[in-house]
Amino acid sequence: MIPERSWQQRLHASLTLATTPENRYFQMATCDEHGIPHNRTVVFRELESSPEALLIVSDLRTEKCQHLQSNRNVSGCWYFSQTREQYRFACQGEVLTSSGHHNLLEAHWQRLSEPGRQQYFRNQLHASEYFDCSGRGFPLENYPPQFCVIRLIIERVDYLSVAEQPHERIMFEKSSDGSWLGSQIDP
Ligand SMILES: Cc1cc2nc3c(=O)[nH]c(=O)nc-3n(C[C@H](O)[C@H](O)[C@H](O)COP(=O)(O)O)c2cc1C
Repeated sequence: MIPERSWQQRLHASLTLATTPENRYFQMATCDEHGIPHNRTVVFRELESSPEALLIVSDLRTEKCQHLQSNRNVSGCWYFSQTREQYRFACQGEVLTSSGHHNLLEAHWQRLSEPGRQQYFRNQLHASEYFDCSGRGFPLENYPPQFCVIRLIIERVDYLSVAEQPHERIMFEKSSDGSWLGSQIDP
């Protein structure tokens, strides 16, 4: 049976109905060079279209960025507690830096709160470079070199709604021409 709504329509609705900040967190797993998975919580920042991709902001010094250099496979798992829906994304990840992506990084940096920006200066090896002349703290208006955006290009979406009985599970697969095909799965 062909599903009535695409995963994009479902995700937009889930985001619209989600009123708590926690509903913007999802789990992102990468694999190290031994194939061992590492999972962590990240904040959803943006959904790009053509191709569909989840964007998050991160720090180049974190392991996830290193993992993506040798293995681009990423699994994302996002649960919306209010609508009781789970999205599992199979993605290809790429780390976007200031070289070639300045405007994108700048836009995301400007959207971060001050505490959010300060995280990027923790354990700064060369902290003195970032202190202003008065030594009051970091100049937070410009993003530091370790700031990056990670783009997770979505290749498959495993959607599950447990809001009603029976549960609804749909696998959305991307075709080679970029179109999406969804099929209902039981269970
Ligand atoms: C609620 C919450 C939100 C988080 N959001 C992010 C995020 O958007 N980007 C990020 O790099 N780390 C985020 N973190 C921290 C990561 O979970 C992780 O601890 C950190 O990125 C280091 O992970 P890694 O070295 O395995 O890459 C968040 C943690 C929590 C608890």
